[in-house]
Amino acid sequence: WILITLLLLITACTQKTIVIVTPQRTNARLDFGVERLQQSLEEADYQVEIRKGETELDHEGKVIAVGPISSDLLQDELTRNNLDIDSIPGKEGYIIRSTDHVTIIGGSDSSGTLYGCLEIRDSIQNSGHLPNSFSKNNQPEMVMRGTSIGLQKTSLLPGRGVYEYPINEKNFPWFYNKKLWIKYLDMLVKNRYNALYLWNGHPFASLVKLKKYPDAVEVDSATFRKNREMYHFLTEEANKRGIWVIQMFYNVIVSKPFAEKHHLKTQDRNRPIIPVIADYTKRSIASFVENYPNVGLLVCLGESMRNLSDQVEWFTKTIIPGVKDGLKALGRTDEPPIILRGHDTKAPVVMKAALPLYKNLYTMEKYTGESLTTYQPRGPWAKVHRTLGDMATTHIENVHILSNLEPFRWGSPDFVQKSVEAMHKIHHANGLHLYPQASYWDWPYSADNTDPRLLEMDRDWMWYKTWARYAWNSHRNRKEEIKYWSSLLEKKYGCNQYGKEILNAYEFSGRISPIIIRRFGITEGNRQTMSLGMFMSQLISPDRWGVIALLYNSDGPEGETITQYAKKEWLDKPHKGETPVWAIDKIVDEGKKAIQAIEEAALHITKNKEEFDRLKNDMYCYNAMAHFYAQKVKAALLVLRYQYSKDVRDLEKAIPYLEKSLDWYAKLVKLTKDTYLYANSMQTGQRTIPISGANGKNKTWKELLPYYQEELKHFKNNIALLKSGKREAPQVEKLQPASVKIRNEELTTYKVGSGAQPFTDEAYSIKNVATELKGLKGYKMSMKQQQIDGVATNIQFENKEPVKLVVGFFNSSNRDFVAPSALETNANANNRGQASVRLLNAVGIPGLPPVNIHTYYYKPGTNKFKLDHGACLILGFIKGDEVIMERDVGFKGGEADANGLDWLFY
Ligand code: SER
Repeated sequence: WILITLLLLITACTQKTIVIVTPQRTNARLDFGVERLQQSLEEADYQVEIRKGETELDHEGKVIAVGPISSDLLQDELTRNNLDIDSIPGKEGYIIRSTDHVTIIGGSDSSGTLYGCLEIRDSIQNSGHLPNSFSKNNQPEMVMRGTSIGLQKTSLLPGRGVYEYPINEKNFPWFYNKKLWIKYLDMLVKNRYNALYLWNGHPFASLVKLKKYPDAVEVDSATFRKNREMYHFLTEEANKRGIWVIQMFYNVIVSKPFAEKHHLKTQDRNRPIIPVIADYTKRSIASFVENYPNVGLLVCLGESMRNLSDQVEWFTKTIIPGVKDGLKALGRTDEPPIILRGHDTKAPVVMKAALPLYKNLYTMEKYTGESLTTYQPRGPWAKVHRTLGDMATTHIENVHILSNLEPFRWGSPDFVQKSVEAMHKIHHANGLHLYPQASYWDWPYSADNTDPRLLEMDRDWMWYKTWARYAWNSHRNRKEEIKYWSSLLEKKYGCNQYGKEILNAYEFSGRISPIIIRRFGITEGNRQTMSLGMFMSQLISPDRWGVIALLYNSDGPEGETITQYAKKEWLDKPHKGETPVWAIDKIVDEGKKAIQAIEEAALHITKNKEEFDRLKNDMYCYNAMAHFYAQKVKAALLVLRYQYSKDVRDLEKAIPYLEKSLDWYAKLVKLTKDTYLYANSMQTGQRTIPISGANGKNKTWKELLPYYQEELKHFKNNIALLKSGKREAPQVEKLQPASVKIRNEELTTYKVGSGAQPFTDEAYSIKNVATELKGLKGYKMSMKQQQIDGVATNIQFENKEPVKLVVGFFNSSNRDFVAPSALETNANANNRGQASVRLLNAVGIPGLPPVNIHTYYYKPGTNKFKLDHGACLILGFIKGDEVIMERDVGFKGGEADANGLDWLFY
């Protein structure tokens, strides 16, 4: 019987031997695909033999033929087996046909061949054997499917500006970890991503050396060598996996040593094009293209260049010629794609000027800002997308930062599928650029407080998988999708049939953050960390906090803000679209359902229990956050009602809601204090909502709780004062003027107050003005001069003590008025504390829009204040340490409207 067993064993072995045959000439992607295929077959106990270039195979067992569809090998095998392929798929596509004996995998290009191999590999891994009959033609819908990694940090480096991070081991130890890269690239290829974007302000000084500017390099030579090696390693490993590495950079940033040598700033939004910087940048780009021929470029013309005409000139005369010089040095005549970011520029204008010079331009624009807000985008933002989508060969949707999804787990297949559909149909896009779900500035880690720390790519596997799946194909049947995701989750957590409940938890909770931000948020930008909550002033007086119009007119379905809703209620007018009341009911309901679903599954978890518990905790966090917002919005609606009713009882009714919202916040503190290191990964002064994140402060719920407690205390005290008749409006004091020496000889002054005329050439006169500003020494401006392109506002002065310049911006989108700088498009917008509105509706001038006050801080010295063209008020200087109690003064236009109500909370 020993002999019989042996014979049986031998037969079994021969039966399970598989020959993989490829053409004689292969390439890196094909080899990689074959290697992965072989690995999966061996794991399923097959013996694998690889043969190259054989045509007459004498193998009895199974054969897999892999190669380009057009190759002789594939064509012969198809004919010999009487198989038809109907049509040849497009870019990155593949066909698979099989009989009992042979499996044919043919790619329309090398990526297609690789993806064909991976499709069979997936099937073997799922079923444990090589599929017997398989027939498929497949190709991706989106032509670019990429993820991004920031060579950026949670805080600024000492003495350096925003985005300025030299690439070295100290700043980015993970960058030199090859094992980590392989793990990440494997994750990407498993999900069929085909691009990897690396973001950095000015990468060139860490990667190229220029003969003309040898001192510009900002890393030591050992690091320089290592960087080169790492980029080559990365591009090679990525290329095998069908992934194109793309370097992103901002304009114009130069290296610190270059700046010092040429007595320049590393970045300066207001400076014109300087020839030496243009020459340095052009040469850097040329050298980069020459030395890293397989790396693409993603160009951000903002944030360090203000002027659109400069941006156009920069793109057409510095960047494109730089790329062309690099290609020429390589002897190349083709035009590899250059990707133009629309951020902080007008991409259609730039494209128009650039297309005659370079045909292969792609465009990229943010999907819904720096948050994920909706799968129903519309309005002016959708129009920008469509213009670009119809203009460029490839228009890429940037799912950016996700400041409203930080830090909790988020992975809703339903939401993602619908978003990708919207990208195609509403935005006319055919590419995806995906940020990490959370902790972008802290890559590779997530915010979870674990030891060792979790890798974001592991934690957020659902995030990467969902976007990739629908970027490949968004036309998938929902019922089948539910089965697919449920089964994946079932396997991950070993929870027999309960995967569906975990999927439900992801999908219910997945709607909460988008709804909160699009109905109650100030901005979809990084400036707001939504999970930390919002102050009452931000809910009842959003304009004071610089509310972003796009969030309400583009980044969600039509609906009403809290203030609009309150007004309509008071006037008894009908409501339209998503209302705040609808939103709070919805998020509370989704929170409840998410918890029920996760608890259903919780009893059945047999695998990855710790991670499951973290996911479960996140569901409780979502629920607490939903309740916090719901109660607070209810309170806000009552406070806004008081604005009309003047009935203190409305304010009193708001108290219990505010108390409840505080209870829910305390729950959030409890749920997060041991489980999360922070709420947001950008831990700088660029974060201003709900409160400044400067110096890494205010990044946990525990730190925020006392502020919310204070808010309630103030509210109760102020109501008591109101009732006693002692206080009806805020008590504020006049600001003290500071003396400076003005260099502009032509400037004349005026005393800020009722009746004053702030312009030299227009007769407008101030009707109402906030008490704080009365008596300041304003400077009369020529409105016409301010409005002329290029002349603008320009004041030069000397100050011995620190001062703040008080500037009044007209609240209007009309080009006649200059807009305050916004952190959404300019990360330096708050360097002088000028991004925040200090007083809203502070000056009433009949015939002109309401005026908001911003202040600019200056250290002692000779200083310049410059603004883009458009009228504004220069209301004078105050001492550098003056603190303005921020509030809505309530002077809209010439009339004194209802006084702002913010003071109730201070
Ligand atoms: N807001 C910045 C940008 O869009 C940071 O990501 O580039």
